[in-house]
Amino acid sequence: MKVAVSFIKSKYLEKETIDIINQTSADFLHVDIMDGKFVENKNYDFDDIEMFVKDNHLPLDVHLMVEDPLSYIEDYIKLKPYNITFHIEAVRNPLMLIDLLHDNGIKCGLAINPDTPISMLMPYLNKIDTVLVMTVYPGKGGQSYIKGMTNKIDELAKIKSNFVIEADGGINNETVEDAKNCDIVVSGSYVCMADDYEEKILKLK
Ligand code: DX5
Ligand code: ZN
Repeated sequence: MKVAVSFIKSKYLEKETIDIINQTSADFLHVDIMDGKFVENKNYDFDDIEMFVKDNHLPLDVHLMVEDPLSYIEDYIKLKPYNITFHIEAVRNPLMLIDLLHDNGIKCGLAINPDTPISMLMPYLNKIDTVLVMTVYPGKGGQSYIKGMTNKIDELAKIKSNFVIEADGGINNETVEDAKNCDIVVSGSYVCMADDYEEKILKLK
């Protein structure tokens, strides 16, 4: 199991948290961006993130919880991230954004909220690289895994083709078992509120 660590709920400040994550065997740094419209919270501006990640060497897994992904993608392309994921609920036609990311050599993920059916993704599954299954309602770290999402993960695993499945929210050493048919799990507070980040990450792997 690959692990993407989210730094938004941590015992330390963001830059310190990211520097500690960089000393672990984490596979990705998960960058949660919230605009205060698609989700209630508004968190970091682009120049905050640029400062936070200036010493980062992990592949960036950017998760845009925003109403207007295009305006954010234009900024985040500059960081040469590994992947940018936006929400299917935020766009009418994701094809242009998928092409824009691929034209810039960036993998494209589509995220689906707990109440969004997989059918919404069907037309795009053969064009994207990642399906981000939200296992909490997006907007903050430290929430509990929604058990019903395991079926969605298992359904996607049955029809998996060229995309990877990533679970995001409430992942810890117990719920990672529920998400066992994923390729990647995102974990934030389980890792970043702990004393020993690496010990927690190894438990998830
Ligand atoms: C929630 C974010 C998640 C969250 C994960 O809106 O997309 O990435 O930060 O944090 P935990 O693992 O604490 O749920
Ligand atoms: Zn996330």
